[in-house]
Amino acid sequence: MTVAIETRGLTKRFGGLVAVDKVDLRAAAGETLGIIGVNGAGKTTLMNCICGLYRPDDGGDVFVGGERVTGQAPHVVAHRGIGRTFQVPRVFRRMSLIDNLLVPVLDRKAPDAELIGRAEAMLERMQLIDLRHNHAEELSGGQQKLLEMARMLMPDPPIVMLDEPFAGVHPVLCKFMIERIEETAHAGKAVLLISHDLTSIYRLSTRVIALNQGRIIAEGGVDDIRGNPAVIEAYLGT
Ligand SMILES: Nc1ncnc2c1ncn2[C@@H]1O[C@H](COP(=O)(O)OP(=O)(O)OP(=O)(O)O)[C@@H](O)[C@H]1O
Ligand SMILES: [Mg+2]
Repeated sequence: MTVAIETRGLTKRFGGLVAVDKVDLRAAAGETLGIIGVNGAGKTTLMNCICGLYRPDDGGDVFVGGERVTGQAPHVVAHRGIGRTFQVPRVFRRMSLIDNLLVPVLDRKAPDAELIGRAEAMLERMQLIDLRHNHAEELSGGQQKLLEMARMLMPDPPIVMLDEPFAGVHPVLCKFMIERIEETAHAGKAVLLISHDLTSIYRLSTRVIALNQGRIIAEGGVDDIRGNPAVIEAYLGT
């Protein structure tokens, strides 16, 4: 299977704290890699290192489709095929939903009508179409998460990173999001999924890595992780 995304030895320090410690991960097209760990384990920092928000001054490399993207600016990494959402959604609050979706494809050579058509189809898929002309700030927190997911998918990135998509989201919307994430993986994208919702992680993931204090303490299929003593200890204590 082609490896879509890979990190080798990725490391990030904040002063004396090693937030991400020599992390090696890989995910192939169509695969969902679940990333779990207690608060402060380093999950978001790992994503920030992968997407170029943090410079890799502390070591390690990121590869997209086998090509090194380490140290590139976030917009360059996005162009190389990595889309992401944020733990706290970052929508363009004073722009309409349609305009939010058009931002990442502004440089595409396609005619406006085609891009708007795609944006509308995406909003339809996310059940936000009736609000397409509203400002993003008028959306609920859960709807903003859907909008951010829609915006991320607009350029059709082969790699998708989701940071806590279910946090603070009602179970009905959670179920809807799970289905959208499943579709995304079935469409052949590599998905990196951070969540504290272990039920959803176990349902969606082909493989899981567990982080603790920046380090991978366990890695494997859902069944390997579920009963793993190191994971249980990290979550519950001894
Ligand atoms: N910008 C920063 N400056 C200093 N320390 C930071 C910074 N960002 C994160 N940290 C520290 O790095 C560690 C990892 O944080 P991170 O946000 O990656 O954890 P997380 O696994 O995403 O946690 P959560 O589940 O709460 O979102 C924590 O100890 C945190 O305090
Ligand atoms: Mg986090």
